[in-house]
Amino acid sequence: MVDWLWSFSGSSETLGVALRTMSICTPMRKRLVGGLIVALSGILPLACYPDNPMSTFDATGPVAQSQLDLFWMIFWAALVVFIVVEGVLVYTIIRYRRKSEDYDPPQTHGNTVLEISWTILPAIILAIVAVPTVTTIFDNANSPSLVGEPAIEVEAVGYQWWWEFKYDDPNNPGNEIVTANEMHIPVDTVVNVTLSSPNVLHSFWIPKIAGKVDVVPNNVNTLWIKAEETGSFLGQCAEFCGVAHANMRFRVIVESSTEFDAWLASQDEPALEPVDPLAIEGKTIFEGNQAQCWTCHTVSGSAKSQGTVGPNLTHVGSRTHIASGIRVNDQKNLREWIADPDRVKPGNLMSATAKVYTDPISKLTDAQVSALVRYLQGLK
Ligand code: CUA
Repeated sequence: MVDWLWSFSGSSETLGVALRTMSICTPMRKRLVGGLIVALSGILPLACYPDNPMSTFDATGPVAQSQLDLFWMIFWAALVVFIVVEGVLVYTIIRYRRKSEDYDPPQTHGNTVLEISWTILPAIILAIVAVPTVTTIFDNANSPSLVGEPAIEVEAVGYQWWWEFKYDDPNNPGNEIVTANEMHIPVDTVVNVTLSSPNVLHSFWIPKIAGKVDVVPNNVNTLWIKAEETGSFLGQCAEFCGVAHANMRFRVIVESSTEFDAWLASQDEPALEPVDPLAIEGKTIFEGNQAQCWTCHTVSGSAKSQGTVGPNLTHVGSRTHIASGIRVNDQKNLREWIADPDRVKPGNLMSATAKVYTDPISKLTDAQVSALVRYLQGLK
C-alpha cells in the first residue's frame, strides 16, 4: 500500500505536463489538477490503516505505545486549535465581508487585549503539550534496565544497505554471535539496542515497536525496545543513505523466550557441512577463486570464508528473507539474487564490486548458480 501511494508522489506535476501537452486551457487544467489532488488526498489516510506492516497506529510494546499516545494527544490539541482559528477566520470573512462598492468600513489599528491573549494562550497550550512530550523523550531514552529490569543487549550496525545484529554469546563470554537483517528478540523483554555505522547516516525504525533513532558514524546511539506480542515486524532504514536506501529493510522476529534461547543457541553453532554433491560443489565455488564469495562473507566453521564486508551467511538458510529483507528466502528468489543482484536490489554493493558481476569472463554459469543456491539453502 505504501509503495503504491509513493508511486503517486509527483503525479500532480506529471499530470500538469500531460495536460499542457494535450493543450487544455489553463483554468480547466487547474480545476482538473485541483480535483485530482483532492481525490488523491482522500486516499492518503489509508496509509494509516493499522494492518499495514509499516503503520505506527498498531503499536506493540511500551515505546511505540508511548509515541502513539503522544501523537494522539498532540493531534487532538492541534485539531481543537485548528477548528477555533479557522472558525474565527471563516466567521470574520463572512460577517465583515464588503457589502457595498463605495463603502469603507471603520478602520482599527491594534487591540491590546486581543494581542496579549493570542500570545499567552498558545504559550500555555505549548507548555501543556511540553510536559508529556519531555516525559516521553526521557522514558524512551532511559531503558528500564537502568532500574533493574532484566534486559538483553543487541548491537545493530547499519551498512550500505543492510543490517548486522550482534549478540553476546551466552556460552562463550567475550564472543559474539553475528547475524544479518533479522533480529530475533524474546517477547515481553527489554532489549537494549546499540546503534553504530561504519559508513554513512542511517536510521533504525520498527514502526510497530519503536520510533526512529539515527545511526551515526563515529557516534554510538542507543534505544530500548520491548515487544508485547510475538510475530514478525517490519523495520526500515529511515534516513536517506544512498542509492539502495529504500531497500534497506530488516525484520524483528519476536518469539517466546524458549524459542529465542533455542535460536541463539543454533546461531552459535558453526555452519552445517554440505552433504549432497550439488551443495558440496556450491561450497567449492563459494570458496574458489572465480566467485571469491569468501572474501566478503563469513561462514562460521569454514577456514576460508571469514570476510566481513558483506552479511554473515553462517545460517542464511534459516532466515525468512534475503537481500536485506526485500525477498522471501526461497529457491527461485535466491537464484535470481545470485544470478543478477542488481535486478533484485538496484545499486547493491555486491553487484558493483564482486568480480563475477563486474567481469564478464568470471560470470557465473547457470549450473554454478544452482550449486551456490543449494549450498546457501543448506546453511540452516
Ligand atoms: Cu540506510 Cu537509509
